[in-house]
Amino acid sequence: MASHCGELESDMSKFLVVLGSQWGDEGKGKIVDLLTDQVSAVVRFQGGHNAGHTLIINGQKTVLHLIPSGILHPGVTCYIGNGVVLSPDALMHEVDDLKSQGVDAFSQLKISTQSTIILPSHVAIDQARERARGGNAIGTTGRGIGPAYEDKVARRALRVGDLLDAGQLEQTLRAQMEWHNFLLTQQFGEAAIDFEETLAALTGFGKTIKPLICNVTAELAALKRAGKKVLFEGAQGALLDVDHGTYPFVTSSNTTAGGACTGSGIGPRAIDYVLGITKAYTTRVGAGPFPTELTDSVGKHLANVGKEKGATTGRDRRCGWLDTVILRQTVVNNSMTAMCITKLDVLDGLEELKICTHYEFNGEKIDFPPAGAADLAQCVPIYETMPGWSETTAGCTEWSALPVNAQNYLKRMEALCGAKIAMISTGPDRLENVILEDVLA
Ligand code: IMP
Repeated sequence: MASHCGELESDMSKFLVVLGSQWGDEGKGKIVDLLTDQVSAVVRFQGGHNAGHTLIINGQKTVLHLIPSGILHPGVTCYIGNGVVLSPDALMHEVDDLKSQGVDAFSQLKISTQSTIILPSHVAIDQARERARGGNAIGTTGRGIGPAYEDKVARRALRVGDLLDAGQLEQTLRAQMEWHNFLLTQQFGEAAIDFEETLAALTGFGKTIKPLICNVTAELAALKRAGKKVLFEGAQGALLDVDHGTYPFVTSSNTTAGGACTGSGIGPRAIDYVLGITKAYTTRVGAGPFPTELTDSVGKHLANVGKEKGATTGRDRRCGWLDTVILRQTVVNNSMTAMCITKLDVLDGLEELKICTHYEFNGEKIDFPPAGAADLAQCVPIYETMPGWSETTAGCTEWSALPVNAQNYLKRMEALCGAKIAMISTGPDRLENVILEDVLA
């Protein structure tokens, strides 16, 4: 009987992964926020405060980097999973910012014992390394993300649980910082970071967050059994995945759907739906190949109308036409159930639109991208031209109210990418959407 009950209950549960299907900045924050109305918990599973999620609610702008966007919904538990690299400073800044808006983040936040801690020395190494790379810099956010993941894989990282054991904390931190300070002073000629100061700060931080530390996997298993809905919030985008992205111009985590499993402890069959947030055109921040990039007046138009500036670093985003060749790959990488199209309104008023359908690579026409940055940089996009629309789609909430040419553009996108569209976002406010399918039903 007990096992039958369990099955019945878990049938009602829905584990939804929401992630970016391009190079990040697709507008995930707004969609996560919207869907959070229906869930019990939101989970961050990879990345750190390199992400930037801008939310506009009732006209008020909130930018979150580390804390899941669900925090603005009272009663929704927000988990930071083991796959996340956690900066104590960034976390406390966000907690303070939220407090000034009347949100008590600590009442909703839970942190995995296994999350990796980002140290000030990780930040220093990230920045020193980028400076040393000169013209070959990756264009990282300079927040210590890569060096922290390196230490995790090298099995010398400090994890959240270590903060609660003074002896373990001191020992692990000392060994890690000896290595960091060796690199900083000997390889990069930079100043060393003070060990005692770092230790004192981490000891205090451990005490502060002690009530939040938990076994996230066990809690997620309980939520599944209890038939609850949970949203897994991806950071960055599929093409910044360390394995499947445009390596080496990528971030240092698995941003694709499998990361939701390894970064939280659930298995692949626990995931019911993968929603790929997909901008109606393409943008990228930082260096690396971008076949459909536009450096002309159309590119500037997209940047201006789309307000394409990074939420984390304030850098201008590079803009270009929609690339369905890379999307074909990310549909596969993520077992994408459906797409949510964002920023359709940015295309309003353009006389004609181009969609990249194939690449020319080594004299051949290909429909799936080659792996890695060097080969992708050699690809020449092949476009199909479609008529634009003069009407506005901004704020539209019904498919039938969209201009026919916008409908045709979206239908063509579905056919070329091999994934259906479940939602269309037509403006920054949480109510500005066309909903075609209830992704949490
Ligand atoms: P890192 O994650 O700081 O190591 O940066 C590696 C690459 O990922 C750089 O090209 C960054 O611009 C990019 N990146 C990191 N986080 C984001 C994001 O949230 N949106 C878009 N690009 C990002």
